Amino acid sequence: MTLSGAELWLPMPELQEFDELPRPLSVQCASLGGPPAGTHLCTLSELRDGNAVRLEFNQGQRVRRIFIVATADGCAAYVNACPHFNIPLNFGKGTFLNYTGERLLCVHHCARFRIDDGYCDAGPCAGHWLTPVAVQLEGDDVYAA
Ligand code: FES
Repeated sequence: MTLSGAELWLPMPELQEFDELPRPLSVQCASLGGPPAGTHLCTLSELRDGNAVRLEFNQGQRVRRIFIVATADGCAAYVNACPHFNIPLNFGKGTFLNYTGERLLCVHHCARFRIDDGYCDAGPCAGHWLTPVAVQLEGDDVYAA
């Protein structure tokens, strides 16, 4: 028996309601060892078709990572650290979206997060949030805020 591509996809489990933990406050790039407010980070054009822009900052001995993704009304930036194991969501260059493009996905244990606000609504850290990074959108340009 040969399965077609469509038959290989397992159905996604229904999203559930969890007790939401308090959403973390936004952090500034500068507080992660990154550039000061007003620094150009990327353009919306770079975020088309589900692409994310990844940035790394050195903060003392630590490397801090953020990523920026397109949202329905602009873009959002998050610290690239899954609340489950505090490791980057992506593997290698990778992508941050699940195959439907509707959720951010942690590739390690398949936690899914709403793109617009970083809330985890499925997976081992359901009810937790990604930490938002403050950015400002001006036209097509995304700046550290
Ligand atoms: S490290 Fe992200 S779901 Fe486990």
